[in-house]
Amino acid sequence: MLTKELEQKLMATAIEYRKRSHSPYSGFCVGAALLAKNGTIFGGCNIENAAYSVANCAERTALFKAVSEGVTEFEAIAIVGGKADGPLEFCSPCGVCRQALVEFCNPKEFMVLLGTSEEDYKGYSLEELLPYSFTPKNLL
Ligand code: THU
Repeated sequence: MLTKELEQKLMATAIEYRKRSHSPYSGFCVGAALLAKNGTIFGGCNIENAAYSVANCAERTALFKAVSEGVTEFEAIAIVGGKADGPLEFCSPCGVCRQALVEFCNPKEFMVLLGTSEEDYKGYSLEELLPYSFTPKNLL
């Protein structure tokens, strides 16, 4: 269950992983912390590339780390972002990351925590952020 303590741990982990952001082109650093149903937390950061389109968002870094380790069931993700030399800003996941998440996460249950610190954040269901989504169920 997603307790307040766990939410704050996710926010703190996202803030830590943001420090690993490789974003020399945009100067915008993002960190994410994905909580699996088995309790494991997978961190991620955005990773840019001189060939700009190769960039990977923090959320997908965390998701792909987890899936490649055989973990495919998730409860929540925390996301933080902001300019390299500035304060954290409210950073909402891009459309591609929302779609990547809905492949594995129940949109009604999976929570997305967005905010600027361990104390200052708000939770949204994935369904709120990606209504009427196209999911694996569409292909059954
Ligand atoms: N970025 C993320 O990592 N996650 C998002 O959801 C929004 C955008 C990254 C991608 C790029 O490296 C930088 O932020 C600026 O777009």
